[in-house]
Amino acid sequence: MTLWGGRFSSGPADSVAALSRSVDFDWRLAPYDIRVNLAHLEGLISAGIITAGNGEVIRAGLKALGTEILSGKFSYDDKDEDVHSAIERGLVAKIGAVGGALRAGRSRNDLVVTDFKLYLIDHLLEIASLTTNLIEAFNKKSAETVEIIAPGFTHLQHAQPIVFGHELAKHSQALLRDIDRVGDWLVRNSISPLGAGALSGSGLQPNPESSAQSLGFDGLAANSIDAVSDRDFAAEALFVMAMLGVHLSRIGEEFTLWSTTEFSWVVIDDAYSTGSSIMPQKKNPDIAELARGKSGRLVGNLTALLTTLKGLPFAYNRDLQEDKEPVFDSVETLLLLLPALAGMVTTAKFNDANISRGAHAGYALATEIADYLAKKAVPFSLAHEAAGECVRLCEKSGRELHELSDIELSSIHPELESDLREFLTVSGAVASRTSSLGTSIASVTSQISDLETATKEAKSWISNELQRFSGMMKP
Ligand code: ARG
Repeated sequence: MTLWGGRFSSGPADSVAALSRSVDFDWRLAPYDIRVNLAHLEGLISAGIITAGNGEVIRAGLKALGTEILSGKFSYDDKDEDVHSAIERGLVAKIGAVGGALRAGRSRNDLVVTDFKLYLIDHLLEIASLTTNLIEAFNKKSAETVEIIAPGFTHLQHAQPIVFGHELAKHSQALLRDIDRVGDWLVRNSISPLGAGALSGSGLQPNPESSAQSLGFDGLAANSIDAVSDRDFAAEALFVMAMLGVHLSRIGEEFTLWSTTEFSWVVIDDAYSTGSSIMPQKKNPDIAELARGKSGRLVGNLTALLTTLKGLPFAYNRDLQEDKEPVFDSVETLLLLLPALAGMVTTAKFNDANISRGAHAGYALATEIADYLAKKAVPFSLAHEAAGECVRLCEKSGRELHELSDIELSSIHPELESDLREFLTVSGAVASRTSSLGTSIASVTSQISDLETATKEAKSWISNELQRFSGMMKP
């Protein structure tokens, strides 16, 4: 069914109906469309456009239809153009022509944005909640590995020793910021577009503030044209999801690398690995690879919508129908990925001995020599130069830094004395980084305890928000 037949001498050509049709994907908005219709109905009753008696019939019809949609008993058919027309068809079939009264004072233009915002609020909170499970997995693994000294890398080359819990805990920090971004999104976008009509507002719906409130939004849009024509809220949601996806891809890359025979830092549980159809011995880190790979579509979806929005004139344009599929795809990708990744991290077994083995390799303690000299008031540029010479000498003679003789040290720099060797241990190097963000065991332990507190706070924020919006989410 379409909602606009009157002025046309014929129906749309088959190719046009096929192109125009969005119900195959926008049916995901159906529960939200029912809720928005219910809120709109109350506005029309208060405005005297729909009588109390008819209102009761329509309300009961909408609620029954909502239940049938959730149970799968009612769905769209081959002729429905979009979710809104399918729902009107279902309502009219249930209660008769009076169901068509609901169309007064609103347009699909404001209806679809309102539905879409409710969908996003619901699903971004669900994504945030799944993200907390992954964060908890990292917090736990970080706490378990806080005493394991590991090589720290820059440029994928050994850089300085760190504790391994520090490396893992960095992911919790990034993921908590992703949840924060959902919060920021909500503050800016919990604003109702309902009442904007096609573009200019409606004389039949004088009090859209009250439907905004009954839907749980924090306010009403200030400008009806802006309300129906911008999709910055969707683009911003896509960015939030793309950023999360990029963080997940970095996790995926690390686990892929760590599970190689060359690293052997982690064993990924069998339940989170897959095999090869030809090589019987293979156990592949496909979950980690998919985490890395799926970031491509998450970034692509953001790019797609921004490109669609660029240069759009005035108010609503049909181009805007292209806003939904990228969002649904990003949401559904993350809903699939996050639980699998949380399971992979939770069940992963780290190999402490292999992780520590290379902590000192690659002259990773050279910075300690420079720091030792700097503490003796040698300008850091000269200290750096001297430490570099120590490395050069070691490399040439196949030795480690602590194996240089006192004479060699003092000839490189007179301030390099035998007590330098006390500083040339990985545990000493790690222990010296005592500032709050540093890698000493005490610092990282306290970082993890702060992470645990922040994770608890995020969880309780999410459950409060879900509670606050629950009325509008479940019709
Ligand atoms: N399916 C449309 C969309 O997603 C609904 C709004 C249609 N409005 C219109 N004027 N044709 O944008």
